[in-house]
Amino acid sequence: MTTQSGDLENQLAVLRQDAQQAIATAETLEQLEQLRIKYLGKKGSLSQVLGGMGKLDATERPRIGALANQVKDWLQADLEQKRTALQAAQIEAQLSAESLDVTMPGVYRAQGHAHPLTSTAERVIDIFVGLGYTIAQGPEMETDYYNFEALNFLKDHPARDMQDTLYLPDGNLLRTHTSTVQVRYMEANDPPIRIVAPGRCYRRDTVDATHTAVFHQVEILAVDEGLTFTDLKGTIKVFLEALFGDVAVRFRPSFFPFTEPSAEVDVQWRGRWLEIMGCGMVDPNVLKAVGYDPEVYTGFAAGLGIERLAMVLHQLDDIRRIYASDLRFLRQF
Ligand code: DAH
Repeated sequence: MTTQSGDLENQLAVLRQDAQQAIATAETLEQLEQLRIKYLGKKGSLSQVLGGMGKLDATERPRIGALANQVKDWLQADLEQKRTALQAAQIEAQLSAESLDVTMPGVYRAQGHAHPLTSTAERVIDIFVGLGYTIAQGPEMETDYYNFEALNFLKDHPARDMQDTLYLPDGNLLRTHTSTVQVRYMEANDPPIRIVAPGRCYRRDTVDATHTAVFHQVEILAVDEGLTFTDLKGTIKVFLEALFGDVAVRFRPSFFPFTEPSAEVDVQWRGRWLEIMGCGMVDPNVLKAVGYDPEVYTGFAAGLGIERLAMVLHQLDDIRRIYASDLRFLRQF
């Protein structure tokens, strides 16, 4: 072995040791890349050592060359191993930084929910939509025609009285019931008809435990060939069972100008009967007013009081609670 080759061998050994140590202590992938350039790059330490090969005896070159290649392989293997380890550590760190402690107590956020009036109306609408009815709506400000005349109220009917109806200065009025939507819908559509029409109504009622001046109704209307009172009763029965389950119900003969025959439906509420809807077979005069032939078509209709239904559903003692905006009350639903 010549001095020169011994020298190169030494340099390679030192280089390898230095490089191994540096690689072992690298902390980031960037540092590792710097080390690769420093030791194995074009102008790196290994290239420099190999630069000295030219001065070697021809017989020594293959041995030193092989040794240099070996050092290069080792360092490449070291770099590769370290890179894998650093990448794994990086992923590990990222995962633990993003991990959630599912046992940590949550942050309480107050969550709102539907008002009992809204949820009751939605349940009613859902049931009728399930029976094939379409949702319809009409304005709260109405004319005498839609609120009364087209619904067969005679000119001197007591319901038109200032006592019951809130008239506006321009002669219009605030609708006293959602039956107005029956007329508007029939005017614009041909039979067969199945509609469910929710809405707000107004009356100059004295407020008490079961009355408010502003209240909500859902109107039902079906017009077709061959509909009878049996269809009405069956529909109401299916509806009441879907809403209340098993509840005592009573049909009472009644009178409405726009239905003949007419009935009112009562259900048990706090030990007494509470009226929850009016209903009946659409009066032929109403069908005529919208241009339907009463000899061909018959219909049934009903108007349901949402507040009353909510009172029965939740066994409320006083309708005024529904409007009191008292959170102690509202939070129960
Ligand atoms: N509109 C009536 C009221 O508010 C309720 C009513 C009765 C509606 C009979 C109807 C009906 O559709 O057929 O008192």
